Amino acid sequence: MTRKRVQGTLYLPATESALELAAGIIARGGLVAFPTETVYGLGAGATDEQAVARIFQAKGRPPDNPLIVHIASLEQLSLVAREIPREAYRLAELFWPGPLSLVLYRSQQIPPGVSAGLPTVAVRMPNHPVALGLIKKAGVPIAAPSANRSGRPSPTSAFHVLEDLAGRIEAVLDGGRSLIGVESTVLDLTASQPTLLRPGGVTRERLEAALGRQVVLPRWDGTSPPPSPGMKYRHYAPRAPLIVVVGSEARRHRLARSLLSWYERQGLKVGYLNPLRNFRGSLDKREKAFARSLYAALRAMDKGGADLIVAEGFPACGWGAVIMNRLCKAASRVIRVV
Ligand code: TXA
Ligand code: MG
Repeated sequence: MTRKRVQGTLYLPATESALELAAGIIARGGLVAFPTETVYGLGAGATDEQAVARIFQAKGRPPDNPLIVHIASLEQLSLVAREIPREAYRLAELFWPGPLSLVLYRSQQIPPGVSAGLPTVAVRMPNHPVALGLIKKAGVPIAAPSANRSGRPSPTSAFHVLEDLAGRIEAVLDGGRSLIGVESTVLDLTASQPTLLRPGGVTRERLEAALGRQVVLPRWDGTSPPPSPGMKYRHYAPRAPLIVVVGSEARRHRLARSLLSWYERQGLKVGYLNPLRNFRGSLDKREKAFARSLYAALRAMDKGGADLIVAEGFPACGWGAVIMNRLCKAASRVIRVV
């Protein structure tokens, strides 16, 4: 087995024996980053309060932002959550393993620290053989946020994980690039109506079709405690300021191009993200391809020394809604052209 260390963190190509080793690290209270189909996660045993506390330290994560618990079987769902509604099983049947996290009532076995003290817990079954293999071998559900330093773009490769967390975690399992590239959908099933706390890999439209009822967006005025703690933090952000331009395609394109050349004339190095023009195929295909490469592109622009990034927005439905959510959260400014 290749056993390379980067600043003390074990780098492990995801072989069977590497999974054994990583599961042992989890069992001893260590932190292991692992691939999922969405982004890489930073895992600890979900029932190990001290290990979970170390996740927050390693990421520099605000203590009031809860983690997602990852499971490998439906039996583990009843270990993590209680009073599970029928709709949860229906969605699990349709979308698990997959990019959907369900917020349910937390069971006694899961320490409050996992949920930052909330009575609820987010659970998902990831659709990735390495993630599932690790959970099975560890024999416990694994609590894992995205494996980035807090506020940075989520990692879609083991290399990104090492960029942010080398020397701060025990190991990273390399399972190649994440196929989806943006985080899971977070759906709250403890509210009176199913509530979309974060758009993601399973779109709102598909959830509504599956449930046969409306999925609502959370109401939050920006002052009271938010429905999902993650909503109040700037996220996914590159170091360079990001300007997002939205509006009809022709107009936003014109404005984005003129911003780009204006800033370049000032001698600035400007990154440009033009989602729809850089990819081929149907809108859905282009959106998915853009989502897959978005975080890697933001990281690459930072590394290339960009002073500023200009991105063109999307129509906010289907995958467009997922992308716009991430772009707007990463943005220092959103300009609307009408
Ligand atoms: O795709 C994903 O979801 C990835 C992979 C690793 O599974 N994980 C991920 O975790 O993106 P994280 O910690 O970066 O984002 C979790 C989000 C946060 O916005 C958090 O506030 C929300 O889920 N969340 C977690 N538990 C919650 C709860 N009990 N109630 C409301 N929101 C919750
Ligand atoms: Mg995250």
